[in-house]
Amino acid sequence: MPNIILALETSCDETSAAIIQEGILQSNVVATQIIHQNFGGVVPELASRAHQQKIIPVIQQALTNAKVSLQALSAIAFTQGPGLLGALIVGNAFAKGLAFAQNIPLIAVHHMKAHVWANFIEPPFPSFPFLCLTVSGGHTQLVFVKSYKQMKIIGQTQDDAVGEAYDKIARMLHFPYPGGKIIDAYAQKGDPKRFSFSMAQMPYLDFSFSGIKTAVLYFLQKETKKNKDFIAQHICDLCASIQHTIVQMLLQKLEKAVGITKLTSIALAGGVAANQGLRKELQALAKKKGWKIFIPQFAFCTDNAAMVARAAHDQFLAKDFCNYQATPLPRMPF
Ligand code: KG4
Ligand code: ZN
Repeated sequence: MPNIILALETSCDETSAAIIQEGILQSNVVATQIIHQNFGGVVPELASRAHQQKIIPVIQQALTNAKVSLQALSAIAFTQGPGLLGALIVGNAFAKGLAFAQNIPLIAVHHMKAHVWANFIEPPFPSFPFLCLTVSGGHTQLVFVKSYKQMKIIGQTQDDAVGEAYDKIARMLHFPYPGGKIIDAYAQKGDPKRFSFSMAQMPYLDFSFSGIKTAVLYFLQKETKKNKDFIAQHICDLCASIQHTIVQMLLQKLEKAVGITKLTSIALAGGVAANQGLRKELQALAKKKGWKIFIPQFAFCTDNAAMVARAAHDQFLAKDFCNYQATPLPRMPF
């Protein structure tokens, strides 16, 4: 019998289910909760309720797309954390109920490790060991990856995550939530050297993105006092300059990490890996330095159950199962 796993992802504002068979992805359904757009950020209570509404149709669609029945499943996987408690509870409870009803094993997956594992959904795969820069709305991490069992965070943000900084700056520029990708789009048409913002100097391999947020805020306040249309008149150059600063902050630390670890296989993960500026500047740097770059397709960078399924596949082979006492862990240790 082939091993077939159903994986659920409900850590934030995406309700997602995926089916993986013998390590090959069969389906990946993602329902994005648009309700949060009205509030300028994810509202935890609303996220939890939306997961409750969407989880059954999303699972049904994932089973249908993969042409798999519930009875054929070998295990159920779910994101145990980190994430929003009320959101994690939905996937956790549903996975337990389904595993109990089918009498099959339960697999608890770490959301941030799954982001790294998105690099193993489709070839080419990075060879071990490699460095992964995980950049999302909730995290910014440099991870030393020896194997699924041996991953170590060697640098991380001490305040805002890079995606969070993007979204907060986007709000200052009057873009709707989540505005990271809108900044990215305008940045393509602007001059990245037009405005300069100072970069936080953090020790070791750590990051800080709260400084650039404040720098942009003060700069916009000063300029809009002189000219109320400043933002609209300079939107492309503003976005390009902000994006260039953020990307340089990421790449400087990555270069430092390569210097320390001597690893030259570099993977990207997380929603901000979709950023065109980051992709372009990383590819240019990699060419100069002779690094090998791995970037999952966009659908596997933002939150999705395919990455949870791929991580669960390795856990299944290692018989790394959990019991029914596994509770959601909003601050799950790495
Ligand atoms: O990984 P993800 O889907 O969810 C979390 O686990 O956080 O990442 C979402 C984040 C948001 O902050 C969003 O604005 C950002 O990724 N993002 C981008 C781009 N596309 C998504 N940021 C910059 N440029 C983009 N093209
Ligand atoms: Zn995520």
